[in-house]
Amino acid sequence: MRHLLSTRDLSRDEAIAILDVAEDMAEVADREVRKLPALRGKTVVNLFFEDSTRTRISFEAASKRLSADVINFSAKGSSVSKGESLKDTAQTLAAIGADAVVIRHHSSGAPLVLAESGWIDAAVVNAGDGTHEHPTQALLDAFTMRRRMHGKAARGRALDGVTVTIVGDILHSRVARSNVWLLATLGASVTLVAPATLLPIGIGEWPVAVSYDLDAALAAGPDVVMMLRIQSERMHAAFFPNAREYSRQWGLDDERLATLGADSIVMHPGPMNRGLEISSRAADSAKSTVLEQVANGVSVRMAVLYLVLYGTHQGGETVVTDERTVS
Ligand code: NCD
Repeated sequence: MRHLLSTRDLSRDEAIAILDVAEDMAEVADREVRKLPALRGKTVVNLFFEDSTRTRISFEAASKRLSADVINFSAKGSSVSKGESLKDTAQTLAAIGADAVVIRHHSSGAPLVLAESGWIDAAVVNAGDGTHEHPTQALLDAFTMRRRMHGKAARGRALDGVTVTIVGDILHSRVARSNVWLLATLGASVTLVAPATLLPIGIGEWPVAVSYDLDAALAAGPDVVMMLRIQSERMHAAFFPNAREYSRQWGLDDERLATLGADSIVMHPGPMNRGLEISSRAADSAKSTVLEQVANGVSVRMAVLYLVLYGTHQGGETVVTDERTVS
């Protein structure tokens, strides 16, 4: 795997292989010394043009656990605020000798531009681009579901037959898009629930069912309920009457939480608007995997960085091939 730009172009085998390498990486987190020498001598740059808490520190932790040198670059406080272009920034990183660039950008497609530009010969990992994709988030979500559903027997498995209901601001959500493609590839059934104003045009072509009625969707007994943040910063119009109305109709409140099946789980990529799309009780309940998702994110990002930089399984078995492959 040369780059990770989206989940849409991952095959089922590739996706399972990434999750399996992440399982290997998760074992490192349980050791006394949580470090592997795998990326010693490699330089990973975190290039963040948009705000982030979890994703940025997660990539930083992942790089450090693999012994890479990490450079954190955030657009605020850099020359980007003086109008420096992506090209100049990329060429500067190339001159520094970056081997991998983890990029978050407000423009959909920026990671693809960087990967195909020729400005820099580094592996590119998309950490969220506009409303387009956020592949490592979807992979860590799938990893979390797979562990919850299959426990210790998760390795090698997909998510066939798992039912996932994704609720909320689908229109602005790169997390929803990456999840939809990956979950379809892994055999899960996805239902999207949102007000019509927060569903994108063209939704009919996505491999999902659509519902406007959260209570009806929950009554179907999904294995996973994934709540999405209302992305006010991307809204330049009124998409729903007001916050109270939204949470009454589309929020996972305490009453709805009580109707969920015994083995079902509640997911949220964070950051959460407590009291809007999710109640505090739901966020903190035993069903919630919010912090598990964060912890798993480090293992998944270790796997992704390792695979884009070396493309091999730890045991020497090649899982994803390309010109960087070392078997
Ligand atoms: C998401 C993002 O930035 O796309 N957060 C994350 O990466 N954990 C979702 C969001 O901002 O709502």
